[in-house]
Amino acid sequence: MDKILVHGGNSLAGSIKISGSKNSALPILAATLLTREPCTIHRVPDLSDTHYMLQILTHLGAQVERASGIVTVTADKVQSVAPYDVVRKMRASVGVIGPLLGRCKEATVSLPGGCVIGDRPIDLHLKGFEALGAAVRVEGGNVKVFAPKLAGAVINLRGKFGPTVLGTDNVMMAAVLAEGTTVIEGAAQEPEVCDLADFLNKMGAKIEGAGTRRIIVEGVSELHGAEHDIIPDRIEAGTFLVAGAIAGNGVTVNRVEPKHLTAITEALSGCGFKIEANKQSITVSPNGAPKPLEITTEPYPGFPTDMQAQMCALLSTTDGISVITENIFPQRYMHVAELKRMGAQVQMEGATAVIQGVERLTGAPVMASDLRASAALVLAGLKAEGITEVSRVYHIDRGYEHLDEKLSELGAHIERVKA
Ligand code: EPZ
Repeated sequence: MDKILVHGGNSLAGSIKISGSKNSALPILAATLLTREPCTIHRVPDLSDTHYMLQILTHLGAQVERASGIVTVTADKVQSVAPYDVVRKMRASVGVIGPLLGRCKEATVSLPGGCVIGDRPIDLHLKGFEALGAAVRVEGGNVKVFAPKLAGAVINLRGKFGPTVLGTDNVMMAAVLAEGTTVIEGAAQEPEVCDLADFLNKMGAKIEGAGTRRIIVEGVSELHGAEHDIIPDRIEAGTFLVAGAIAGNGVTVNRVEPKHLTAITEALSGCGFKIEANKQSITVSPNGAPKPLEITTEPYPGFPTDMQAQMCALLSTTDGISVITENIFPQRYMHVAELKRMGAQVQMEGATAVIQGVERLTGAPVMASDLRASAALVLAGLKAEGITEVSRVYHIDRGYEHLDEKLSELGAHIERVKA
């Protein structure tokens, strides 16, 4: 397993091009199952998670061609069983249930395992499928759905932790071929949900209201092939902006959609950093001593849970007391124990982290645990005294396209060691 060694102390400057969004590419690749015609998707990021999804589509019978970031999927013939050994690696594989139900009127998919950021139930997904007329059975670690016909329904998908992103995606993908109208109340508003709806509409679906809490789907009899550009990855962009805040002297992220990052840039401005945005880029620059902050993670357009660990890294060396409350995945603090090994002063109180900023962290061997926690440890190493050795970097490769190489381009002293 590879390791990343971060030699702290270099200042970062310059600009970086942001990749296509992982969390948009995964449901959009799943949506290609809804038609037998070819679909061409541009800007698919080169990540292990997108590779897993393409393996799943191939297993289900689709032809997949990939030329750098352009993927063409032709799901002419599709079978509807995705076994454990194929789906166990990635929770987002649940996102094939909706399109298989829509296309084949049945699906058997292994249940996603839990993961370190917390229990990952799919009860809301299954509630949506049942509302559309599917019989749902969970047995032997698999979820089986079956519907002689799918009929539009009014469905509230809001759970106790708020809306569900993949649940909204899944129900939308099952509803596009249902008979009649489906109304999804309490829908997730994330830009990635809007990107999926845009792609489905290009395929001939009739979806309105994506990006609001209420999505209306007018069922159609069939969908056709389409071509689509994936939106930029707002979490990758946010991660580089936080890197620029921690150790930067003017870091610019290019090819972004600034309006998707408002909560992140507002948080960095709240810390006292200078933020300059234009049509497709954002620059973060130091602007005096950073200030402590209070952050609460919320569904979009609130502060994203996927940026919580990265902000922990920044606030660990921001003088004063900062408070972070995690409302989406209350256990999503695997990074805290590792940051404390580097000298961070963090007191956990339930789902709230109280951070006393310290002058400087000290490099140490640390363990990556989930995608965003791993990125946070690399960021923390940028300004730490000495070398931070991040192991199990396969977590990073799931969701960041060449993170270490991109940070090196900005001036970081960082190396990947084949272990
Ligand atoms: C998506 O996961 C993202 N993954 C996650 O990003 C992101 O953290 C999350 O949305 C929240 O924004 C992808 O898009 C592939 P949810 P998802 O369903 O859809 C609870 C990353 O780092 N819930 O919106 O699986 C759930 O437990 C990943 O890129 C239910 O209770 O998350 C959580 O507390 C990590 N029942 C909350 O809702 C359900 O049926 C939000 O989860 C579904 C979810």
